[in-house]
Amino acid sequence: MNPFESKRVLLGVTGSIACYKAVDLASKLTQLGIKVDVVLSDAATKFVAPLTFQSVTGRRAYTDQDLWGPEGHVLHVGLSKDADLIVIAPVTANTLAKLANGQADNLITLAALAGTVPLLLAPAMDGGMYDHPATQQNLRSLTERGAHIVGPVSGHLASGLSGQGRMTEPSELVGHIRCLLGAKGPLAGRKVVVTAGGTQEAIDPVRVIANRSSGKQGYALAQAAIDLGAGVTLVSAPTALTAPFGVNLVAITSAEEMLDATLQATKGADALLMAAAVADFRVTNSSQKKIKRAGGVPDLELETNPDILQAVTNASRPKVIVGFAAESDDLLKNAAHKLESKNLDLIVANDIRAVDAGFEVDTNRVTLIDRSGSKEELALMSKEDVARIVLERVVKLLR
Ligand code: PMT
Repeated sequence: MNPFESKRVLLGVTGSIACYKAVDLASKLTQLGIKVDVVLSDAATKFVAPLTFQSVTGRRAYTDQDLWGPEGHVLHVGLSKDADLIVIAPVTANTLAKLANGQADNLITLAALAGTVPLLLAPAMDGGMYDHPATQQNLRSLTERGAHIVGPVSGHLASGLSGQGRMTEPSELVGHIRCLLGAKGPLAGRKVVVTAGGTQEAIDPVRVIANRSSGKQGYALAQAAIDLGAGVTLVSAPTALTAPFGVNLVAITSAEEMLDATLQATKGADALLMAAAVADFRVTNSSQKKIKRAGGVPDLELETNPDILQAVTNASRPKVIVGFAAESDDLLKNAAHKLESKNLDLIVANDIRAVDAGFEVDTNRVTLIDRSGSKEELALMSKEDVARIVLERVVKLLR
C-alpha cells in the first residue's frame, strides 16, 4: 500500500553546519517508509556522528573508513546501484566542484559517479562561495547533466552574514524527493484533478458563508497522486495548508470559481477526485459594502449553486470520477444515491458524526462504494492512508 516501502534513497552528507538538518531529512524520509542509506564525508563527521543517522534511519551509516574496509571494493557501486535516488544534502561548494568535474575521491563522490539514478543536490555554503563564478559554473554543468538542484535559499548564514546559501528546509526537500521517487509510478503520464477545502460565498466584503472543511483530505489525495507519478492540478478553496510540491495549484474562493477552474482543469484529464465541500447555496443580494449592525438583521436571499460534478460529467468527462459524500444520516443510502445520480465511478462515504472523522481532524473513517454497489468499509486511519487507498482504486479503474 505504501509506495515508498520499496524505495531506497542514498543520502550523502557533506561538511556544512547544515548537516544537522540532514538528520531531520533522514528521519522524515524514514518515517515515510523509505530505506535511507547515509554516507558521510570526513568533514560531515566533524559536525554530526554516523550514530545520529543510524539512530534515525535504523540502518548502518557509512563513512570513508568503510571505503577501505573489507567490502570497500564494491561498496560505492552497491550503494548507488541499490538506490532509486541519490540525494546529497547538504552539498558543499567543494563537493559540487568534484561532482561537476567527475572527481571521485571519497565514498559519496564515488557513489555519485557510479550512479545512474536521478541526483538531487541541496547546496549549503556561504553567500560569497555560492556567488563565485566557479560555483555558478559547476551548478550550470550539473543542471545540464540532469541533476536536480534545490536551493540554496536566502537568510541568515553561519558566517553571521545574510545571503543566499542556506540549505532548503528538509520538509521542502521531502516534497521534491517524493516527486522524483513517484515519477515512474503507476499514474505516470496521467492527469489527475483534485478539489479540496470548503468554498466561501460572500455576504459582504467581510463575511462569508463557509463550511468546516480544512482541505486536509483533498491535499492528502493530491500528495498521494503525486507519489504515484500523476500530473496533479489541485483546485483549492482557502485553507491554511501548503500545497504538496509538484502540484499545479489553482486557488479559488466561491463555488462558481471552483466550477470554472474544475471545468478548465478536467479538459483531457484522466481522473477527477472531488473532495471539496462545495457550498450548495450562494447569496444573491450580497453587498459590496460592509453591512452595518445598526441597519438591523439583513434579509439574505439564497440561490442554488451549480453542481460541479454534474457539470463536469456533461462537459469533458474524465475516465474516472470519484465523489465524496459527507453525511450525518443514512450514510450509505445517501452516498449510494449520489454515486448513481452524479454518475460517479466511486464514492467515498464520510460519516461526519464521528469526532475522529470528516471535517478538520487528521483521521477519517470512510466506506468506498463503487458502481457495482460493492462496499469496502475502512477502519479509522489517517487521511494520508485514506488517500492512498482511494488512489489505488483510481489506478485500477484507469487500467
Ligand atoms: O477538508 P477536510 O477537513 O479534510 O474534510 C474532508 C471532507 C469531509 C470535506 C471530505 O472528506 C468530504 O467528504 N468532502 C465532500 C463533502 C461534501 O460536500 O459532500 P456532499 O455530499 O455535499 O457532496 C457530494 C459530492 O458532490 C462531493 O464530491 C462534492 O464535492 C460534490 N458537489 C457538491 C456540491 C456542488 N454544488 N457540486 C459538487 O460537485
